[in-house]
Amino acid sequence: MMARAIEWLDGKLRILDQSKLPGEQIFNDLDNYHNIVLAIKEMKVRGAPAIGVAAAYGIVLGAASIKTANKDEFLAQLNRVMQAFAASRPTAVNLFQAINRMKKAARGDSVAEIKNSLINEAKQIHEEEVTATKKLSQLGAELIKDGFTLLTHCNAGPLATAGYGTALGVIKAAQDQGKKLSVFVTETRPLLQGARLTTWELRQEGIPVTLITDSMAGYFMKRGEIDCVIVGADRIAANGYTANKIGTYTLAVLANAHGIPFYVAAPTTTIDLSLTSGYQIPIEERSPEEVTHIQGVPIAPEGVRAANPAFDITPPSYITAIITEKGIIMAPYTEGLKGMGSKVS
Ligand code: MRU
Repeated sequence: MMARAIEWLDGKLRILDQSKLPGEQIFNDLDNYHNIVLAIKEMKVRGAPAIGVAAAYGIVLGAASIKTANKDEFLAQLNRVMQAFAASRPTAVNLFQAINRMKKAARGDSVAEIKNSLINEAKQIHEEEVTATKKLSQLGAELIKDGFTLLTHCNAGPLATAGYGTALGVIKAAQDQGKKLSVFVTETRPLLQGARLTTWELRQEGIPVTLITDSMAGYFMKRGEIDCVIVGADRIAANGYTANKIGTYTLAVLANAHGIPFYVAAPTTTIDLSLTSGYQIPIEERSPEEVTHIQGVPIAPEGVRAANPAFDITPPSYITAIITEKGIIMAPYTEGLKGMGSKVS
């Protein structure tokens, strides 16, 4: 049984600290919203859907910490809590979807009623994420043939979704249908989500896995060893341009050059219909230290300049299909994505 990434337990948020995996399985019980904001920034909780769910519960804890019974004062303070979450990580739109839903749920005749409504909404967001990822995994599994070797990047499993997983959910569902599969996993520099988390999750599911460095993907594609690429997403614009972990674009171009299908699996909470162009998606720039160091150990001369964009944008012309819980969408994406997701900005 897979350890749960996020769990609401006795009025606290229990998170599995993903920054310590696979070496240590450490659970943190968080009852202070500042610590949840920090956990998101430090990527103890990570992956687009999981960030949204964690923020929703974090807002519940933020609300609980507000002591006034005056509704206007309460809502003003709650707004500051929400702003703290909105400033934690910019790219995954699930975070902003969750904040917007919590904003709308902050209704009631009294502060007590609003607090009650907020916890119900957070639980609902969590439940919907579980249902959506399960459903999209079952739909996506139809694209995966018996005997396939897939390649995936970063981590898009239960850890990243607080649910069933997206890219890994599809792989798991295909295996549950009796298909024999194996998976190449790119290590995903700089923070090694592939090497540390995806291999860990796939092994627990008993799915054969081969870890490769990010730069080896083209070699294995050229040799005909990869049948398809499947990844998750952090934000999909209305025209199908997709933000996902840095390196995804490179894989999509490579897959295209080798005639290999490239699938994106994501719940509709990852779709941002307010952006008409993918290049409007804000790309998080993280600390250069994540590049100059590996797990705290320096690997470059001290003081060397390093860049660290955490995500890139894949144009829809490289995407064979986007797998959602509402169906499998193919080009033209502007048409197919209509009515999916929501407008968040
Ligand atoms: O920076 P991270 O680890 O939060 O980035 C995660 C990804 O890029 C995942 O592929 C994406 O969120 C999909 S999660 C199902």
